[in-house]
Amino acid sequence: MVWKAHWTRVMENMLDSPHVAFVHSRTFGAPVAELLKANPGARMETRFEAHEHGGRIAAAIDGEERPAALDYRFPNLMELTLDPKGRLFRILAVCIPLSERETRLLLVTARSFLRLRLFDPLFGRANRRIAEEDRAIVESSLPPIVPPPEEEKSLPTDAPTLAFRRIYRQRLLGSRG
Ligand SMILES: [Fe+2]
Repeated sequence: MVWKAHWTRVMENMLDSPHVAFVHSRTFGAPVAELLKANPGARMETRFEAHEHGGRIAAAIDGEERPAALDYRFPNLMELTLDPKGRLFRILAVCIPLSERETRLLLVTARSFLRLRLFDPLFGRANRRIAEEDRAIVESSLPPIVPPPEEEKSLPTDAPTLAFRRIYRQRLLGSRG
């Protein structure tokens, strides 16, 4: 897919857990949305734990860790580890810069079940549907390139996206990013 946005906006969206319950309530965010409906006072906390290749993003609701693991892999890849019941199931999102205002979003599924190519369109369609829920938000984000962390009001759950903004500015800005 090609989105009309700078790649940093697409990337940070992929690293943001708090929006899932709201933007994806009709798809994969349904369980969290249900959880919030049952307990509107629930609180989410997020952490960014830097590792060799980027960082692991963890989220907890009312102290209970969310099962899905999210990794930022430097410089432009997100890996979502779902791994249900010992099977391997990963969704990778690669944010490929095309221009200042265009990014190719490549979504790749890695799985140890339903491996026949026959099933690829099924997973492709599900991924596209989820991405489509994000597109308008990402394309309308201002400023077009993620600003320095201190230039916007942020909430504690923004820690992972702020970590990405910091990494982007420290390690990539000034290169051909
Ligand atoms: Fe999203």
